[in-house]
Amino acid sequence: MSDDSRPSRTEPPTEPRTALRTAAVIPAAGRGVRLGPGAPKALRALNGTPMLVHAVRALAASRAVSLVVIVAPPDGAPEVKSLLDAHALPGGTPGGSWGSTDFLVVPGGESRQESVKLGLDALPPDYDIVLVHDAARPLVPVDTVDAVIQAVRDGAPAVVPALPLADTVKEVEPAAVPGDPEPVVATPRRARLRAVQTPQGFDRATLVRAHETVTDNVTDDASMVEQLGGQVVVVPGHEEAFKVTRPLDLVLAEAVLARRRLNDGF
Ligand code: CTP
Ligand code: MG
Repeated sequence: MSDDSRPSRTEPPTEPRTALRTAAVIPAAGRGVRLGPGAPKALRALNGTPMLVHAVRALAASRAVSLVVIVAPPDGAPEVKSLLDAHALPGGTPGGSWGSTDFLVVPGGESRQESVKLGLDALPPDYDIVLVHDAARPLVPVDTVDAVIQAVRDGAPAVVPALPLADTVKEVEPAAVPGDPEPVVATPRRARLRAVQTPQGFDRATLVRAHETVTDNVTDDASMVEQLGGQVVVVPGHEEAFKVTRPLDLVLAEAVLARRRLNDGF
C-alpha cells in the first residue's frame, strides 16, 4: 500500500497509533473555456496522453498517496473511469487501482468549489490528510507533492506550494467595457506576493469544515481556511506545476514533456 505506517511526527510519542493516511482529490470537471473549443480540458491530450492521466500519475507517484478521487465532468464519470482503466499501470487492478494507489471517480459540479466538495464527500473515513490538485496542473513534480504532505504531517493545517512573481502586479478598478483603460488603484509590493499552485494540502477536518462553512465563490481551497481564521503556510512551488489555462500553455507542457523524455531517456 503506502509508507504511511511510519509514525507521524505530529503524534505525541506516548500515544502511538496508525499514522496519517493521505488521499488526493483531483477536480477535473471544468470545461476549459479559456483553452478554446474542444473536449473538456482535463481530457485533452498532451503528447498523446490525456492531461488528467498525467495529473493522476503525478499524484500517484508519491508513496504517501494511497487514494486518488477524480472529479469528472458532470456527465463524464463513466468515460473518465474507462480512460483511467485504459491507462492503468501494470500491477493495478482494472477498475480500482493504479499500482499501489486506488482511485475513485465521481461526477463534478458547476464550480470548482462544488466539484472539490463532491470529491471530499466521496472520501472514505480512514484518511486524515487531503490534497486538492487541479487536473490542469498535470506536470507537478513528485518532490513538490511530497513537500506539501510533509508540511501537513509536521502540523500545518493548510499548506500551499507557491512561487515568487516575475511580473509586477497592479490592482485596478475593472472597466465596465472590456478593453477600456482601467485606473490603477494600488501596486502591492512584489516581494511579498506569491503565485499559488496545487496540490494544496490539508488536515482533513479543517478542509471539510471550510467547505461546509464558506459559501463565497473562491478560486482556491486554502482561502476558505483563511476565511475561517485558520493558518495557511506556503512551501516552495515548482515552475513545472503551472496551470494549463490558455493555448500557449499546451505548447509549454509538451515542451516540458519532451525535455523530460530527453533527460530520463524514455
Ligand atoms: N474544475 C472542476 N469543476 C468545475 C470547474 C473547474 O473540477 N466546475 C477544475 C478544472 O477541471 C481544473 C481546476 O478545477 O482542473 C482548475 O480550474 P480551471 O483551470 O479554471 O479549469 P476550467 O474551469 O476547466 O477552465 P476555464 O476556467 O478556462 O473554463
Ligand atoms: Mg475555471
